[in-house]
Amino acid sequence: MTLLPQEVIRRKRDGGELDADAIRAFVEGLTSGTVKNEQVSAFAMAVFFRGMSLDERVALTLAMRDSGRVMTWKGFDGPIIDKHSTGGIGDTVSLMLAPALAACGCYVPMISGRGLGHTGGTLDKLDSIPGYRTNPDNALFQRTVREAGCAIIGQTDDLAPADRKFYAIRDVTGTVESLDLITASILSKKLAAGLDALVLDVKCGTGAFMATRADAQSLAESLVTVANGAGTRTTALLTDMNEPLADAAGNALEVNVAVDILTGRLTTGRLYDITLALGATLLFMTGQAASEADGHARMVDSLDSGQAAERFSRMVRALGGPADFLENSTAYLNPAPVSRDVMPEERGFVQAIDTRAIGIAVIELGGGRRAVTDPIDPSVGFSNLAGIGDNVGPDVEIATVHAASADAAERAAERIRGAYRIGPDAPDQTALILDRIGA
Ligand code: URA
Repeated sequence: MTLLPQEVIRRKRDGGELDADAIRAFVEGLTSGTVKNEQVSAFAMAVFFRGMSLDERVALTLAMRDSGRVMTWKGFDGPIIDKHSTGGIGDTVSLMLAPALAACGCYVPMISGRGLGHTGGTLDKLDSIPGYRTNPDNALFQRTVREAGCAIIGQTDDLAPADRKFYAIRDVTGTVESLDLITASILSKKLAAGLDALVLDVKCGTGAFMATRADAQSLAESLVTVANGAGTRTTALLTDMNEPLADAAGNALEVNVAVDILTGRLTTGRLYDITLALGATLLFMTGQAASEADGHARMVDSLDSGQAAERFSRMVRALGGPADFLENSTAYLNPAPVSRDVMPEERGFVQAIDTRAIGIAVIELGGGRRAVTDPIDPSVGFSNLAGIGDNVGPDVEIATVHAASADAAERAAERIRGAYRIGPDAPDQTALILDRIGA
């Protein structure tokens, strides 16, 4: 016999352990509405204070995954895989990673999100591509994955509906910051895509949600243990987000960088390196590569040979975008009316960057949302962003700001100057990949 919702709450409130049946019944009630919002919020607060065991986290993740449709991929002749990033600045990894893996024989049904807090979202970046549909019906989604090997789209209403409802309640009851609930929330959506393997990019630093390494490490460990416990092979890379991943922040400006990598014009830098590392990890995990090194070489070849670009073009065309987007991206990505370089007052080396402030500056320029319903201006943001260790000065910019007006550009320039700390000596370079958790 399953427990009443109030008994589930009491047991968790008192630090007891819930079995999988009780958790599943509670989540079913949450989804159908028989468990009331006030009961969900009390449950969330009890979990926030008391925590959950590994078994409880797995049960919550699976129950939330099963609250809607779980995709199946019958007849696909390669592994079904995906990546999740906890979010940062200048992170367009998905735009290269999905087609590069598709070119290596994998299928990547990638369910992505919009900007959250100060971070950019993959869907907002894809919206810069005219005609690209981020919300196709399931038949078009599956067809695109079959034909292009990858499709990057938004969450559909029928995937993990319990998470949408639960998250909205957590958002207004001070219960978002629970490792247990974050783990179940992220994984329920990913696992509903019916994956064989998943790689996680868990970021820490000034531009990440988890600013400290210890918090990021705990999240990575929780995600990896629960995902593997729920039956999906998962590895996490713990990566540095103390500076933007690319030299651009802002939707169309970041798409420009992705186009440069896909077309072979850019073959260095942190964004390029992390794309290869995440891809190599997945190729090795799924047996598509004999070793990490082999996976790395296959990723390089996929980008160098133009095969990743070809998969990207197929995906864009299948989802309604221009067939020649990669060849003629400048014709499709409109520049902002105003652009100007931002010079620092002193000469020296970039010591540290408040990366979060760059994300906030993009939002203030109109490139992100203050409220959920805000429209986004894809053209605004920053390019030529200096990285840690770069030598800058009154004649060498720390960024170029792209804005809708001169006033907005001036405000953004001030904010970006405040985000950079410059000193006389070159700082030590920090590693991009800090740790690997899981297989
Ligand atoms: N992202 C999610 O999808 N869920 C959370 O709970 C936090 C971040």
